[in-house]
Amino acid sequence: MREAGNVKPIYLDPSQPVDKRIEDLLSRMTLEEKIGQLCQYSGFTSEYEKMIMEGRIGSLLNVFGAEETNRIQKIAVEKTRLGIPLILGLDVLHGYKTIFPIPLGLASTWDPDIVRKTASIAAAEAAAEGIRWTFAPMVDIARDPRWGRIAEGAGEDPYLGSVMAKAYVEGFQGRELSDLSAMVACPKHYVAYGGAEGGRDYNTVDISERTLREVYLPPFKAAVEAGAGTIMSAFNDLNGIPASANPFTLKTILRDEWGFEGFVVSDWNAIGELINHGIAGDIFEAAEKALKAGVDMDMQGDVYRRTLIQLVKDGRMSEERINEAVRRILKIKFKLGLFERPYVDPERAKRIVKCKEHIEAALEAARKSIVLLKNDGSLLPLRRDIESIAVIGPLADDREAPLGPWSCLGDPRDVVTVLEGIKSRASAETRVLYAKGCDVDGESIEGFKEAVEVARRCKVAILVVGESRDMSGEAACRAFLGLPGVQEELVKTVYEARVPIVEVLMNGRPLSISWSAEHIPAIVEAWFPGIQAGYAIADVLFGNYNPGGKLPATFPHTVGQVPIYYNHKNTGRPPSPDRWTSKYLDIPYTPLFPFGHGLSYTRFEYSDLEISPREVEPKDVVKIKLKVKNIGDREGDEVVQLYVNDVVASVTRPVKELKGFKRITLKPGEEKTVEFVLTLEMLSFLNHEMRRVVEPGLFKVMVGSSSEDIRLTGTFTVKNLVEFPWK
Ligand code: NOJ
Repeated sequence: MREAGNVKPIYLDPSQPVDKRIEDLLSRMTLEEKIGQLCQYSGFTSEYEKMIMEGRIGSLLNVFGAEETNRIQKIAVEKTRLGIPLILGLDVLHGYKTIFPIPLGLASTWDPDIVRKTASIAAAEAAAEGIRWTFAPMVDIARDPRWGRIAEGAGEDPYLGSVMAKAYVEGFQGRELSDLSAMVACPKHYVAYGGAEGGRDYNTVDISERTLREVYLPPFKAAVEAGAGTIMSAFNDLNGIPASANPFTLKTILRDEWGFEGFVVSDWNAIGELINHGIAGDIFEAAEKALKAGVDMDMQGDVYRRTLIQLVKDGRMSEERINEAVRRILKIKFKLGLFERPYVDPERAKRIVKCKEHIEAALEAARKSIVLLKNDGSLLPLRRDIESIAVIGPLADDREAPLGPWSCLGDPRDVVTVLEGIKSRASAETRVLYAKGCDVDGESIEGFKEAVEVARRCKVAILVVGESRDMSGEAACRAFLGLPGVQEELVKTVYEARVPIVEVLMNGRPLSISWSAEHIPAIVEAWFPGIQAGYAIADVLFGNYNPGGKLPATFPHTVGQVPIYYNHKNTGRPPSPDRWTSKYLDIPYTPLFPFGHGLSYTRFEYSDLEISPREVEPKDVVKIKLKVKNIGDREGDEVVQLYVNDVVASVTRPVKELKGFKRITLKPGEEKTVEFVLTLEMLSFLNHEMRRVVEPGLFKVMVGSSSEDIRLTGTFTVKNLVEFPWK
């Protein structure tokens, strides 16, 4: 029912500039229709159908399938006065139907190329089915593994997080948003959601502006610089002003400082929740605060729909602010080409979704994400023709867990379990026995006996333990970080069988597995590896693939040690064996496994560190060069990590900060030169007056294989104060 008349309206003419089309369309819209563009709802119901026809809905989330999205889109395009297409959104975090490792696992690859590739595959699959907007990447820094959502992000480090954020945005959005395989990205949750007190989801965040800017904001900034078209405002209170009504973060920083031009969507009912936060007395006040602060679209809250007309009538909200939000939303719809191509071709979708290439990428990503935590006596890799293998544990033959949280339309039937993977990769002569042992989260130890018997009959036991997929992700925080249920008892019991044990972990957060770390000779962190889980894990176990992943978050000895992260401050009394230092009496002061840790089946030698110049002038960049040689007898990947410490500054600085990394592959005996470039901006920080500066003085350079395994060190000196005009 688009407007009658022979002349095509400007807004429907693709040859016109987007801004002109937007203004033309806006001039034709009623206030109700404008407000409609700001409203997003979940699912599709007959009530929503009616609302779409009245122009009261601009977006839906959680609708799936090419036919279904076409059917819904048709209502918006063909049965409304102006024919404005909907923008359909979904949480496509680590794959759409081809499921990749969870984001924490993808971060463990330390390989932005594979992350970009998985994101572009996810986008191609979802876009093929009409979903052009992903609520991803999740770029919240998480220093507390109790917080279940650590699984969804890149872990504890702002630099690694920023590199990953950029890669995701580039992957999802492709070269042009109008590309048939592109989705618009939505970095979330803006901002500092991961700083929740006590690691409890939705909890209060109270942090300094310096911490906000230096720890939590950088990945968002990187995502915006990479061109992210939208941003999601978070649930949490931030220093007294909830993130979904916070003009400082949404306006001053996002718009004024960073020049973000896309639109902001609230998290699910985050606007309505301003009432619970206690900064709004009713939905009217909530809407007023959120929209004025900069939240353009209301996800599922139904608050804007119920309030904005009245607020405009009462003079509490200007129509201009509504126009501004509509413009931003329409702009993304135009850029996606939704006006020209609102529908998708279901046949094309069938060809793209879960195609061979995508499955292969899932295997590649899963292999790269695996971290070898421990390998005493080179127990791994196993010989393919080993006589017998016991595969034990609640996750050994589980099809659900490997999908992980937020696994979109992942289908457990597509999952290769560890048992299946081992069977397929072991030699035909190898006997593979299986016992479940126990549930992930139960009390029963009935299965222990069988597990021990199976172990006794084999040359090696692979214990696959960890968390179920619903133990991480949203509203999935844990007060204890050990293996849930009786799994640790299972490990201890099988250990008594005196068979060499390899522990394979599947989980969505760093776990405190001190007992295993002490007693079990080989431990493999697989995270939730996605649909190719079993093959990827078996490839690592048998050495078809030499693991090269590294931890993106610190593993604590015990939950009482949390928060523990590598880029901490030194304190006046840095921990040491001396009594009167900053530590606990009852656990070591070092982590169980540090940030950046991960072993290989080969060994790497670092040498020839060169830093130039050693005296750094304001116009300079610092070049850091070194050599890495594979001195073992297998090809392998090493993630070379560059850390820097600003030795003396006007404010205290972290003991070390990651400033560069490179994942390289080396054949046996091969040597490569690795180079990093540090710009002065990368060395800058917010000084005592909150100005971004590099202060003159000494900087320590540390290059190594993990944040603790530093192989080469050096220094350079910055000669003059350098100031930057931004924060
Ligand atoms: C709430 C979650 O916090 C957010 O991450 C997600 O995108 C929305 N729900 C939509 O599912």
